[in-house]
This record gives sequence, C-alpha cells and structure tokens, in this order.
Amino acid sequence: MTQVDVLLGLQWGDEGKGKIVDVLSPQYDLIARFQGGPNAGHTLEFDGKKFVLNTIPSGIFNEKTMNLIGNGVVIDPIILKRELDNLKKAGHDPVAKGKLVIARKAHLILPTHQLLDAANEQKMGKDKIGSTLKGIGPTYMDKTGRNGLRVGDTTLPDFKERYNKLVEKHKEILSHYEFEYDLTEKEAAFFEAIEFIKNIPHVDSEHFVNGYLKEGKTVLAEGAQGTLLDVDFGSYPFVTSSNTTTAGACTGLGIAPNKVGSVYGIFKAYCTRVGGGPFPTELDDEVGETLRKVGHEFGATTGRARRCGWIDLPALKYAIMLNGVTELIMMKADVLDGFDTIYACTHYEHNGETIDYMPYDIITVKPKPVLKAIEGWKTDVTKVSKVEEIPAKLADYIAFLEKELEVPVKYLSVGPDRVQTLILN
Ligand code: GDP
Ligand code: IMO
Ligand code: MG
Repeated sequence: MTQVDVLLGLQWGDEGKGKIVDVLSPQYDLIARFQGGPNAGHTLEFDGKKFVLNTIPSGIFNEKTMNLIGNGVVIDPIILKRELDNLKKAGHDPVAKGKLVIARKAHLILPTHQLLDAANEQKMGKDKIGSTLKGIGPTYMDKTGRNGLRVGDTTLPDFKERYNKLVEKHKEILSHYEFEYDLTEKEAAFFEAIEFIKNIPHVDSEHFVNGYLKEGKTVLAEGAQGTLLDVDFGSYPFVTSSNTTTAGACTGLGIAPNKVGSVYGIFKAYCTRVGGGPFPTELDDEVGETLRKVGHEFGATTGRARRCGWIDLPALKYAIMLNGVTELIMMKADVLDGFDTIYACTHYEHNGETIDYMPYDIITVKPKPVLKAIEGWKTDVTKVSKVEEIPAKLADYIAFLEKELEVPVKYLSVGPDRVQTLILN
C-alpha cells in the first residue's frame, strides 16, 4: 500500500504551490486538493504560457494524472465552470479527458455566501480580515453550523427548495447590515453552473483516495493558502476558515493520519502576506517595495499588492512542527539576486524577552524581529540548471536554513517556469 504525500505552504500563502505541484505531478497518479476554495490562486508557467488555477488541482496539465477536488474544499460552481471554460479555450479539457472528479461531500459556495463575506468585511471597516471576498468564511460557517449544501445535493429532486431555504436564512442575516445587493444575475449563473458541474463525475473522496492507495498508486495532496493562515494555528482572526496544515489533508480527503507519507513544506526565500494581520518581518520601506517589484508580488486571485518582508525562521519552525515537514522546497531565490545583504529573522523581541516562537498575543503586542545579516550572492540565478552552478553564497544561505530548520531543502526554484527548478538532495 502506498501513502499520500502532502505539499503545503509554510508561510501566508502564495509560496509557489501551483508551480511545484505541476513539476511533481509526473511522479503521481492522483493530485488532490483538500481544503480552501477559490480564495486560492495557483500559478503555473510552461512553454511560454501562464495559467492561474483557483479550484482545480495543479496536476491538470500532466497527461496521465487524475485530479480530485476533495471533500474539504468549498466549491463556487460559477468559478469552477469559468476555470474549465478558460482551460478549454486554451486547448485543455480535463472533463472530456476524464481527468477531473469532485467529492460529493464538498460544500457549495452560494452567491449569498459571497454577499455575507462582503457585508461582514464592510462592517468591520479598518479591522477587516482582508478576505478575498469569495465567500469562504460564510460557507465554512454553514458547513460547521450544519446548514450547508454539498455537491452531492445537486442531484436531489428538492435541491432548489434546499437552496431557497438556505438563501432565506442568508437574506435574514443580510437584512441586519446596511448592504445593497441584487442577486438576479448571480443566481442565474449559479444554476447554470450547477447543471455544468453535474457533468463532472462525483465521487466519495475517502473511498476514491484509499482505493488509489490500495492499488499501490501514488497520491499527492495539494494544499491551499499557508500554515500561518490555518484557522486553529494561524494568526487568528487574520486567517482563512480551514485547516491548511497536514491534519487538514486527512479530514479534507478522508485518509487516516498513518497514511501520510512525505510532507513537502514550501516557502519563499523571503516572506509575503496579502490581507490584514500581523507580519513581524514586514518591510514597509523601499526594500519591501523592491521585493514586491522584483518578485511581482501581486495577488493571483485579487490582484492586491502583497506585503513583503524578510524570511521568518520562528514562523517557519512553527509551521514545520505543525505539519511534520520531511522535505523543504525553497522558492523565488532569484528575487534576492540583486541584494548586497539579505536578512533572516532568527528570534523575536517580545515583552522584554527574546523568543523563537510565535506568541499568542502577536496581534496585540507586535514582536520585533531579531535579524541576522547574510551576504547576498549578486548573481543572476534564473538560468542555473545544475546544482554545481549554484553560487556559493546562495548555497551557504540554503545550508544556514537547513541547519536552523533541521529539515533538508530538496528543491530550489529560481524562476516561475516549470524548468527553473533544481533538485538538491
Ligand atoms: P501559490 O498560491 O502558492 O500557488 O503561489 P502563487 O501562484 O499565488 O504565487 C507565486 C508566484 O510566484 C506566481 O506568480 C509564480 O509564477 C511565481 N513564482 C513561482 N516560483 C517562482 C520563482 O522561483 N521565482 C520567481 N521569480 N517567481 C516564481
Ligand atoms: P493560495 O492558495 C494568500 C488570505 C486573504 C485574507 C485571509 C482570509 O493562493 O496561497 P479568505 O478569503 O480565505 O476568507 O481570506 O486569507 N488568503 C490568501 N493569501 N494566498 C491564498 O491562497 C489565500 N487565500 C486566502 O488575503 O488575508
Ligand atoms: Mg496564490
């Protein structure tokens, strides 16, 4: 029997998960998304083309790989249809090729979930989470509140009545906000998309994935968002509404913890965050602006400018512990090519103490990062294709991180394209 490998983000999302899942997909029979929804934007680049996937797993461009949208994912049928329509226009039709299945137990994002998300954020004003406004929070609330609608419900004869019942509840809540809306167009698009997704095979993801394992096939679980956005362990309340950690792969697919194999933890050579919330190493100056410019740090889903800062080792250590990371993947090393000196945060000064963990009161008492200066490599690494060509100072930076984090860096990414990826160990 095989096990499920997991690939997930160790920071605040956008680490480059889409690129690496695409790179690794030839090694896997099945790629499975396990949580989150279209708040995700996973970018893939190859052959001069660029794709951004929101709901669809990033194994879709590999000819032999099957892709599953797991039970832990929340699906906006309108966005899923749009993603598939766009892929089809670009010559990729995973539905026709039988390369995409969705879990019956995955919950549906309704147009009114998005309205609730927007109404709530508007009311919070400056204290808002900075949600992607895709209706993620309200949909997971209905899931845990036992009100939600699932993909499997769409084939029931009384689906429309169930829908109306939930929408009435939402309208009642919305009436307590000063929030104008018109549902007509969205609702029509929703029902059109519901008909469309009936053509994608619905499966029980728990049986589907365990069946793959029984047959000795290889499975990779693809995370969305990042560990520091986990609803339990992230910088709450500035988090998303799902478990973005390895544990989320178990509940989001229906696999037992002892079925988890390798855990790939992916991080940027620096750090970014989009939306509100604490970010101890944030650079609110021209250095941060340079990172944003060189790294093209603008959201793949919302286009918002990402906040940028230095790598945060206490945060990474925490993420590695929570996820049981067995191998690290370092992304966007090339973005640091031009720096004379780069910095790594090794500790925080917090309430008069020096600590190396993320404190509970990170929201109310801003920790001050203790930074270690590291000499830059000042070399264009975007064309480096062999380990021997890696500049010595970049190799030193990687060795320093491996020593601090106590996990080997297995892959190094030096550009957005599929081919700009090196295997180190
Ligand atoms: P994801 O959400 O984790 O899949 O990451 P995103 O796609 O939101 O953001 C990562 C961005 O960095 C995308 O624009 C990628 O094309 C780009 N990218 C990925 N790896 C590298 C890299 O090694 N170097 C550079 N310069 N860009 C990269
Ligand atoms: P990928 O998979 C980066 C952030 C939002 C906001 C918070 C809550 O591309 O890495 P939500 O819409 O989930 O209620 O927003 O989480 N966020 C992300 N940030 N990458 C993502 O996904 C994100 N998905 C949500 O910006 O701060
Ligand atoms: Mg992203």
